Amino acid sequence: MDDDAPDEVLKELQEREIGAWGVAQIAAGTGLAVYVMWAGIVQPGFRRVPLKLQVPYIPASRAQVDHVMTLLRGRKGGLVDLGSGDGRIVLEAHQQGFTPAVGYELNPWLVRLARYHAWRAGHQEKVSYRREDLWKVDLTECKNITVFLAPSVLSILQKKLEAELSDDALVVAGRFPFPNWTPCRVEGHGVDRAWAYNVQAQRQNSLKKMTATKNNLNNELTKD
Ligand SMILES: C[S@@+](CC[C@H](N)C(=O)[O-])C[C@H]1O[C@@H](n2cnc3c(N)ncnc32)[C@H](O)[C@@H]1O
Repeated sequence: MDDDAPDEVLKELQEREIGAWGVAQIAAGTGLAVYVMWAGIVQPGFRRVPLKLQVPYIPASRAQVDHVMTLLRGRKGGLVDLGSGDGRIVLEAHQQGFTPAVGYELNPWLVRLARYHAWRAGHQEKVSYRREDLWKVDLTECKNITVFLAPSVLSILQKKLEAELSDDALVVAGRFPFPNWTPCRVEGHGVDRAWAYNVQAQRQNSLKKMTATKNNLNNELTKD
């Protein structure tokens, strides 16, 4: 066997021009690989969720998890993470005394991964990860809610939370704030920042805004 053969093949490959057909093949192959990753691993379970409500998986950073937990300090009872990904917030919440700690996640691979992490940490009996669409979950009994979702869906989620949560509930958003709510506390900076919202205060603000709009409209109508 010729010992120089691999070097020669490499040299020939380096010298050979790829050409338009080669570029097209590489592009098609890369596109297919990205599509398979997206459809098979990142987005399964989302077929019934309208496109505008689909949010990709990005795990919270360690600092983000810490800031979320700082904002929850002093709270008791259960915790729900909406779109729980690999389960890191739920697991941390359980370790900090929140019971029950529940994550809702549509992607089955992430649900499995979250359960695996809980098992590895020895808490598989104590936390639960449910493969459910967060838009269909009844939140009326939840007191502590965490979310890390895309800004495009937060204004829609705001309405669901205002309609379902009780006044004593606290919502903590990571990375992106709710567009029309006023936080009672903020922790961290940049991409690791987290915001805490008291539900009663948001409801009162919304009522004030509605009353002001109604009064403005009445004033406009009675002007003429
Ligand atoms: C940005 S990631 C956050 C993951 C995790 N909460 C964290 O902080 O590391 C958003 C997660 O929400 C999930 N998700 C998006 N829409 C969902 C839906 N309708 N129901 C359940 N999970 C959803 C995604 O699969 C993704 O894992």
